[in-house]
Amino acid sequence: MIANKLLRSKVGLSLRAAVAAGRLQGHLSRCNNSFVRRNSSEAYPDVESKEEKGFRGHDMLAPFTAGWQSTDLHPLVIDRSEGAYVYDTNGKKYLDSLAGLWCTALGGNEPRLVAAATEQLNKLPFYHSFWNRTTKPSLDLAKELLDLFTAKKMGKVFFTNSGSEANDSQVKLVWYYNNALGRPNKKKFIARAKSYHGSTLISASLSGLPALHQKFDLPAPFVLHTDCPHYWRFHLPGETEEDFATRLANNLENLILKEGPDTIAAFIAEPVMGAGGVIPPPKTYFEKVQAVVKKYDILFIADEVITAFGRLGTMFGCDKYNIQPDLVSIAKALSSAYMPIGAILVSPEISDVINSQSNKLGSFAHGFTYSGHPVSCAVALEAVKIYKERNIVEKVQAISPRFQDGIKKFSESPIIGEIRGTGLILATEFANKSPTDLFPSEWGVGAIFGAECEKRGMLVRVAGDIIMMSPPFIISPGEVDELISIYGEALKCTEERVAELKAKKQ
Ligand SMILES: Cc1ncc(COP(=O)(O)O)c(C=O)c1O
Repeated sequence: MIANKLLRSKVGLSLRAAVAAGRLQGHLSRCNNSFVRRNSSEAYPDVESKEEKGFRGHDMLAPFTAGWQSTDLHPLVIDRSEGAYVYDTNGKKYLDSLAGLWCTALGGNEPRLVAAATEQLNKLPFYHSFWNRTTKPSLDLAKELLDLFTAKKMGKVFFTNSGSEANDSQVKLVWYYNNALGRPNKKKFIARAKSYHGSTLISASLSGLPALHQKFDLPAPFVLHTDCPHYWRFHLPGETEEDFATRLANNLENLILKEGPDTIAAFIAEPVMGAGGVIPPPKTYFEKVQAVVKKYDILFIADEVITAFGRLGTMFGCDKYNIQPDLVSIAKALSSAYMPIGAILVSPEISDVINSQSNKLGSFAHGFTYSGHPVSCAVALEAVKIYKERNIVEKVQAISPRFQDGIKKFSESPIIGEIRGTGLILATEFANKSPTDLFPSEWGVGAIFGAECEKRGMLVRVAGDIIMMSPPFIISPGEVDELISIYGEALKCTEERVAELKAKKQ
């Protein structure tokens, strides 16, 4: 009964639109059918055979998936990967335009990463880093990361297993630091609306996406959210990007003053917002917000979980936007996602205080069994070595105009509000051109586009009417062209579908 109610809710309806447009029941318009026929040379017989081999009603409580999707639909089961492509269990090939979850930077079968893992597994599959015992790969990786991050000199590295754990640990570290400095009231965190910092208790609280809070009793009360820096959506009539950035910095300052600067510990920001819809900062934004937080002795945490290691065409997002953070979170491309690993880079000022506090208390009592896991660290060391050897930053710089310009040329489409991005990260927001004239969510326009891409052998991220892409750094020019061509075909079909929906509405 409750489940049925949920299914009939707006969210349920808009997700169900994915099904209506999607691979199973199919919105098999001519647009779709003609494509399936033209490309049937792939080992992808048809939609039905996939259904027979499917895993409908599987046993997993699946992350970021609605219950009805697990019970009523077959999941897309990915079986193997190669370069920028993944293959499902039916052998169908997909261009993985999101690089897994913005993470398989070196693509799906980098033999050196596999060799690094194998070698380490054979030598020492596990040892921990507690009580002044540790392993060589974790020590080497910590050193390597400190050398690599040059936006500001960092002092120490703390290892986690994920980006969420990194951001959770950030909060604990900052509280520990402020307690050590005798500032027990300086504990609140300011994050931004639409940010994504992870899904554990604290990182979900920091995140500014309502879905992560709803019915989870979040956010925790120590977290405040300030404006989302999305110029297209939130600027006032006649306001320039610079003016918009000034207004947001003023709002941030007003929030700090309202709460009391002595209560605010840190500000956390992704250099380019990822899961919230790929939102690059407006011009002068980071310069202005950094000045504000500095004025009130508030720490700046850069969440570089998506942006580190070259995604934006710089080694770190901090390099691109001239951010001098006190703390940095990294994960994902750190190991090209071949092994789970995250890390925090800690400024010397903070790590010195943490060290002396731990001397007083007898220990820095924070860490995970797998902090600095030797296999993850060995893989990450190899990934970083490859980024350097192959000049990955220059490679991203060289390929990204082809990607950005190639997609942005569709900006004039009547169903596209904005295409935004930089480097190898990009989003398309569907709308009736204007941010104040969106499509009804139950039309599921983003989901229609996503399904059209999937049919044509490309996976994109769909979040409502925003679709996102962040291909692996190793994507070739030919593969970028393929991505653009599939995007164009999927867009044409989505435009047709939207025209039909509009006609029906009238
Ligand atoms: C900016 C950012 N921070 C943190 C996280 C959480 O990382 P994880 O999923 O590894 O916990 C993500 C994940 O997408 C992210 O994009």
